[in-house]
Amino acid sequence: MPAAPAHSTLDIQKIRTQFPALQQTVHGKPLIYLDNAATTQKPQAVLDALTHYYQYDNANVHRGVHTLAERATFALEATRRSVQQFIRATDTAEIIFTSGTTASINLVAATYGQTQVQAGDEIIISHMEHHANIVPWQMLCQAKRAVLKVIPINKKGRLMLSTLANLLTSKTKIVAIGYVSNVLGTINPLKEIIQQAHTQGAIVVVDGAQAVPHLPIDVQELDCDFLAFSAHKAYGPTGVGVLYGKKALLEDMPPYQGGGEMTQQVTLSHTTYNDLPYRFEAGTPNIAGIIAWQEALNFIKQVGYKTLMAHENKLLNYAADLLSSLKKIRIIGTAPNKIGVLSFVVEGMHHLDVGMLLDANGIAVRTGHGCAQPLIDLLKIEGIVRASFAIYNTKEEVEQFVTEVTRIVQKKA
Ligand SMILES: Cc1ncc(COP(=O)(O)O)c(C=O)c1O
Repeated sequence: MPAAPAHSTLDIQKIRTQFPALQQTVHGKPLIYLDNAATTQKPQAVLDALTHYYQYDNANVHRGVHTLAERATFALEATRRSVQQFIRATDTAEIIFTSGTTASINLVAATYGQTQVQAGDEIIISHMEHHANIVPWQMLCQAKRAVLKVIPINKKGRLMLSTLANLLTSKTKIVAIGYVSNVLGTINPLKEIIQQAHTQGAIVVVDGAQAVPHLPIDVQELDCDFLAFSAHKAYGPTGVGVLYGKKALLEDMPPYQGGGEMTQQVTLSHTTYNDLPYRFEAGTPNIAGIIAWQEALNFIKQVGYKTLMAHENKLLNYAADLLSSLKKIRIIGTAPNKIGVLSFVVEGMHHLDVGMLLDANGIAVRTGHGCAQPLIDLLKIEGIVRASFAIYNTKEEVEQFVTEVTRIVQKKA
């Protein structure tokens, strides 16, 4: 049996007390929550901030001069500044609040894509993308009669990057790439991809949904043109996310949705549009969610990405070592550079059955195609069981999870 990771100075039990959802039992067993790549649990500070807003500051933003409206607006704009600093954007004008990664990618496809992509142009994605970073580009390609090209992956679940040079042509307008795969856990060599794309004059849209919860991101250093991510996968509320875009690109883009907030002057025959970022924020945003997101960002800052990555890596390696020693288990995604995502199949068993048996023991995992059907098809499997780790998971939970998987496999044998 591989050695358990040594106890570090990190006080996981103290961290766990901040998460009320982790204190419950499920089917009479203590909850072991290993579905963090779908959404993480939220610390008490986030829950308190949500309640505080509705209890004391509930008002619409950017519209009123009364005290509550000013408080709500101030708190919302404070989160924008925090997000800007968090990803090292140069300007708050580059931080557009959306409902999440999916909405952010669709925004780029419907604005930048609609104006910049013409018939015969090319868009490049990879074979490991989440549907949110496939379908908007497919729809755009269909509408524009453009061509969707795909970077292949190898058996370990790494991009075959040597193919990119051939895929990129003078017709490539957009490279849309996930920083981290939600099924394989692979961290893609983003900087290299961005440099190559820029050399050919293409812009790069990064799906950062699975990166922000685990890796520090510096948009200036990466030099990505757009970055989409969600709050809820990184300890924040659901229904909130950001589209980061380089200011020069955002300024040239047509508006997305029309409505309140995104306008400067409206007559019945003509509308002039608001400045960035409000031009892309039509309607009332998820004010409570945006304000409470601040607390999730604070939580990550307090723990620190270094600690977070070290802890999650220990859990990943420990779980992978234990699981791979079991017969009938095949781990999906063995790239050397991974975040704490461990997908596997149990030979001869349906992933849903495995998931239900684990749930009966209080263990929450993801089952299915992980919203990455082209990848699942390529792997010639029906679906995966995915355990994904967060800062509050423990080695004891990993051991319990592996014990249950072992029981499931042995029962089947
Ligand atoms: C890699 C990746 N991209 C995009 C998404 C979509 O995120 P959301 O549902 O928050 O818009 C997910 C969610 O699982 C994801 O894992």
